[in-house]
Amino acid sequence: QILPRLYHENVIDHYNNPRNVGSFDKNDSNVGTGLVGAPACGDVMKLQIKIDEESGKIVDACFKTFGCGSAIASSSVATEWVKGKSMDEVLTIKNTEIAKHLSLPPVKLHCSMLAEDAIKAAVKDVELKRAKLKGNSSADA
Ligand code: FES
Ligand code: FES
Repeated sequence: QILPRLYHENVIDHYNNPRNVGSFDKNDSNVGTGLVGAPACGDVMKLQIKIDEESGKIVDACFKTFGCGSAIASSSVATEWVKGKSMDEVLTIKNTEIAKHLSLPPVKLHCSMLAEDAIKAAVKDVELKRAKLKGNSSADA
């Protein structure tokens, strides 16, 4: 069969009604920004998380994706899944889980990989920022 099978309704839904499209201030010390690209197709995804300073939990997330429908749907799902979780927890989110949730066909697996990579990059970014802040505020650093 040459034609790809019809997309799962979850993909269509997240593509038509993407959740959490937008941007946070990337200079905010409680915001982590993950900007990743897919070498295979040139698509780019920016995913941001907002951390509660006290608990370190992710209280909000948003994305902007310049890419295919599967990438947009994957980022939309990713922003939904990270909310309310700790940074450790979201690092365990696998692209295969996102792909399964959206029933992505194998050729679209790399689109969900963008979302996993973007989550990891966003966590890394905010952790770095917070570590720097801590360093600066301790007197004898
Ligand atoms: Fe939206 Fe599951 S269909 S996150
Ligand atoms: Fe590249 Fe979907 S085709 S991200």
